[in-house]
Amino acid sequence: MDDTVTTLIDRRRDECAAVMQTDDARAAIALHGTPVLLLNPSIVVRQYARLRQALPFARFHYAVKVCAHPAVIAALAEEGCGFDVASGEEISQLERQGVAPHRVIHTHPIKKPVEIREALTAGIRTFVVDNEIELEKFCRDGGSDLRLLVRLAYRSPHAGSDLSSKFGVSAARAEALVARADALGLDVAGFSFHVGSQLDDPARFAAAIRDTAALMSRLERARGRRFTVLDIGGGFPIAYDRPVADLEEIAQVIRPILDPLAERYEILAEPGRVLVAESAVLVTSVDGVADRPDGRWYYLDDGLYGSYSNVLTEGVHPLVFAERDLTALVEPRRRATLAGPTCDSADVIARECDLPDLRVGDLVVSPVMGAYTSVTATRFNGRPFTPVAVLTRVRPLARATPSLA
Ligand SMILES: Cc1ncc(COP(=O)(O)O)c(C=O)c1O
Repeated sequence: MDDTVTTLIDRRRDECAAVMQTDDARAAIALHGTPVLLLNPSIVVRQYARLRQALPFARFHYAVKVCAHPAVIAALAEEGCGFDVASGEEISQLERQGVAPHRVIHTHPIKKPVEIREALTAGIRTFVVDNEIELEKFCRDGGSDLRLLVRLAYRSPHAGSDLSSKFGVSAARAEALVARADALGLDVAGFSFHVGSQLDDPARFAAAIRDTAALMSRLERARGRRFTVLDIGGGFPIAYDRPVADLEEIAQVIRPILDPLAERYEILAEPGRVLVAESAVLVTSVDGVADRPDGRWYYLDDGLYGSYSNVLTEGVHPLVFAERDLTALVEPRRRATLAGPTCDSADVIARECDLPDLRVGDLVVSPVMGAYTSVTATRFNGRPFTPVAVLTRVRPLARATPSLA
């Protein structure tokens, strides 16, 4: 195994060990049993500080869909972060938590007319559109202070999730959309895009920003008008089982392009995964052990239809550590398959895992379980949702990577 991968795995093991040694974690496990997600909001705050340092001119709107836990919303609200919503329920949650509507943008490109009306009534003014029919929905209810962003499509087939396969328009169609909005008397304030989630490719971020800026200048000249907003979306990747470009490295590539643009436009971003992924550790336990023709199988009490839904929906390869291994590797060891608790044979979390021999009841821990996990979990097979316990007294381990000066 390449050294950088070994270093990452060791770092992730240390992070799990640090969490599992705390009184907070032991109390949460004693209270809830397993499975349980241990959520540390101070890591969300740390990640937000990193983003602000890396891109100081940007206004960040956390994508609530990625982890809607109230402790995450509260921590980010307290730090002054904005929010990005995609549904009425997300708006209601932010209202319940006292977030003012001017801090919220609605970025779902397709909305029921009633949802638009409710969002406008709630006080939200910034919305995303990517087609004429969506644009026309705003004619009746829009209002003069409405800000529409046209979502552009930049395909990234090598991203963890290529969000431009479903939404967004090409530059050519965006021009026609702006013309249609002008004709309808609607204000297109600017453009948004999402380069693809978990995109380990700083050059792709840079190209999307450059192409959007070029489109904006061209349209400003052609139509004799000014845009005010450039929304660079989300997409910053997180190191699950292999290193990726971290946000400081991405910032180093995109800042020379964004710096001059920040003098002309309000720069928005909609980070999700990078803020919350590292904030949660999942603790499960072994429900069953079986030796099958292809080797040893361990059956855990959480799986792909629960917190490991990120395996299905995001293609994540989660790291899985035996708790007994966290401080020093235990012998004997073997390669094993880890499966979830449901009857579906697709419910396999990981194969070829290097683990000590485990017994029923042994604890198993996965790091980096804060993004696209609890939010996409189901109750398949009648299994309850995994409880989330908020750790209040755990400080994050210092990061190995130096931040930008
Ligand atoms: C419109 C929009 N913005 C932001 C995000 C968050 O993306 P990420 O988690 O890659 O930062 C998503 C994720 O689906 C999204 O759809």
